Amino acid sequence: IDDEGRRVFDLRAQAGQRDFGQGAATRTWGFEGDYLGPTLRAARGERVVVDVVNGLPEPTSVHWHGMRLPAVMDGGPHQEVRPGATWSPTWTVDQPAATLWYHPHPHGKTEEHVYRGLAGMFIVDDEREGALPLPRDYGVDDFPVIVQDKNFDRDGQLRVTRNMFSDIGTLGDTLLVNGTVAPYLDVTTERVRLRLLNGSTARTYDFGLADDRPFALIGTDGGLLAAPHTTRRITLSPGERAEIVVDLRAGERVAVRSFPPALGNVFSDRFAGGRDTFDVLELRAAGTLATAPDLPDQLVPVERIDPASAVTTRSLDFAGRSIGGRSMDLGRIDATVVRGSVEIWEVTKLDGTPHNLHVHDVQFQVLSIGGDPPPPHLAGWKDTILLPDDDPVRIIMRFGDHADPNMPYMYHCHLLYHEDQGMMGQFVVV
Ligand code: C2O
Ligand code: CU
Ligand code: CU
Repeated sequence: IDDEGRRVFDLRAQAGQRDFGQGAATRTWGFEGDYLGPTLRAARGERVVVDVVNGLPEPTSVHWHGMRLPAVMDGGPHQEVRPGATWSPTWTVDQPAATLWYHPHPHGKTEEHVYRGLAGMFIVDDEREGALPLPRDYGVDDFPVIVQDKNFDRDGQLRVTRNMFSDIGTLGDTLLVNGTVAPYLDVTTERVRLRLLNGSTARTYDFGLADDRPFALIGTDGGLLAAPHTTRRITLSPGERAEIVVDLRAGERVAVRSFPPALGNVFSDRFAGGRDTFDVLELRAAGTLATAPDLPDQLVPVERIDPASAVTTRSLDFAGRSIGGRSMDLGRIDATVVRGSVEIWEVTKLDGTPHNLHVHDVQFQVLSIGGDPPPPHLAGWKDTILLPDDDPVRIIMRFGDHADPNMPYMYHCHLLYHEDQGMMGQFVVV
């Protein structure tokens, strides 16, 4: 805490190396270490400042994915930090408790920077969440689970690869959780909360437990659901998060697994990871487990945004490497929205390739998918959503109060190769 009462974080991007068991040290990038970065944590209402230092040999940036904040603090491609420079964004955290994250966003190089290891979690706390009987003892019954897939070359180095049959960017054959190959977690309580983050550049996962037991989905990108949703699977495309609570019995071992995700289009499916299964993380329960309270029936009220309050409906078509037929231009504003206003965006994916939509600064709600109401796992706050083939997805959102006609926010496909290739647009809030 500094003398202005702000919570201060240090975040130095730097080169390092790590032993991933590839027979040689792998050259990596990380924040404050050799790979990934510290979990940042702040409460709603707190003012934070992050001293981002670029210790890398090239420009990068740090974007606060899922955070509501002024555009000049957002860390997108307009806030690049030169090598050796320090950038100190500051803002007041003003949104519900949620599992957010941070990662670089340099123009055209986001895939590479994230792939080398630059990313971390940002947990927001609030009083409502704090009053619920949920596991929240970080590192004891509440764990970050950052899932990434990697390719290593014969020299044990990270390799960005292209697949000639599916242009979705790098898909790896080796899974990491929090930077560890073949990870396990010693569990000491009968109920654990896992904060799943798909921090991969291109791969979509369909998470479940290896023995198919149900678990409780309690939160999505922007915060807790209205009530726990009992399910056996949760699909996460790149950038999405889910908070799940898993029950364990003393002495047992069970893996969190990724099952083949439904990616739509039959041809691209197998080349886009649609047939792949991975064991992600083995949960190893101790011989005796500390008891945990039952999950509450209700979590937090999720106020529904009224479609009648929308001032505009915009249509965005996703196809190839462009949105609405346009490729990203840092000098062009694609949409101007009024601060505090509500808009509906109708998003349709037309090309049978996996794409998702991420919008900066907002958490949105899904109104409908192909005309149907959203399933329970898409009924809460979201900032990133996997797009189905052809069926329009209607989302509704209220924009923030931080007006700045000169500095845009981004919206884009979060398959980072697509983003780098121009599948991104810019909006300003006026
Ligand atoms: Cu997580 Cu614009 O990104
Ligand atoms: Cu973002
Ligand atoms: Cu895409």
